[in-house]
Amino acid sequence: MTGQVLWHFTMSLDGFVAGPGHSMDWMTGFTFRPGLVDDYVTTTGAVLGGRDGWDMAVDGNRPYGGAWDGAIFVLTHHPEDAKPADGVTFLNCGVAEAVRIGLDAADGRNLEVFSPTIGRQLLGLGLIDRIDLHVVPILLGDGIRLYDNPGGVPIRLDRAGTDDPQGAVDLRFTPIQAR
Ligand SMILES: NC(=O)c1ccc[n+]([C@@H]2O[C@H](COP(=O)([O-])OP(=O)(O)OC[C@H]3O[C@@H](n4cnc5c(N)ncnc54)[C@H](OP(=O)(O)O)[C@@H]3O)[C@@H](O)[C@H]2O)c1
Repeated sequence: MTGQVLWHFTMSLDGFVAGPGHSMDWMTGFTFRPGLVDDYVTTTGAVLGGRDGWDMAVDGNRPYGGAWDGAIFVLTHHPEDAKPADGVTFLNCGVAEAVRIGLDAADGRNLEVFSPTIGRQLLGLGLIDRIDLHVVPILLGDGIRLYDNPGGVPIRLDRAGTDDPQGAVDLRFTPIQAR
């Protein structure tokens, strides 16, 4: 059985997955549905990320607060100066090869891609099976976008798990300072 390639993020309402300078301090204080993390811990076999995300990871924090145990692959053109850690393999290869290696290590479970940059490259190659997003109620206005591709063509998507894959999602918010 082959796992899926999942592009997976918590995302601000305005489409950022990290703040300016890769800051992640905005991600606190949100709640997620019960069992959400457990579901991903169970279904994830390996993780693929990029060098910037790895370099910015606080004390080499592992995904899902350490609850998940599996192989992490980090793509970089210069693995020789990367900070090593147990269970982390630095790859200097094409993204398609990185996916092959990651899926192999995932051993039938999913490969989660934790990088906007790599996800965009994989999307261009038709190698993303699913995009999982958890939209949190915040506007950042600046930072690292989920999908940054100036001059590119629009990518149409189906909404999974619904009768109307082209249906819009209605979301309503109120600014906290207005209360
Ligand atoms: N919100 C969330 O749920 C969530 C989850 C995970 C991560 N994040 C955030 O996402 C951000 C990741 O940012 P990013 O996508 O801009 O950076 P990134 O993918 O983490 O790092 C970019 C770097 O990865 C390497 N790379 C990318 N493609 C490559 C290829 N084809 N071959 C070799 N190396 C390649 C290059 O490193 P070299 O320069 O070394 O060659 C490139 O400069 C981080 O801030 C992270 O904290 C957010």
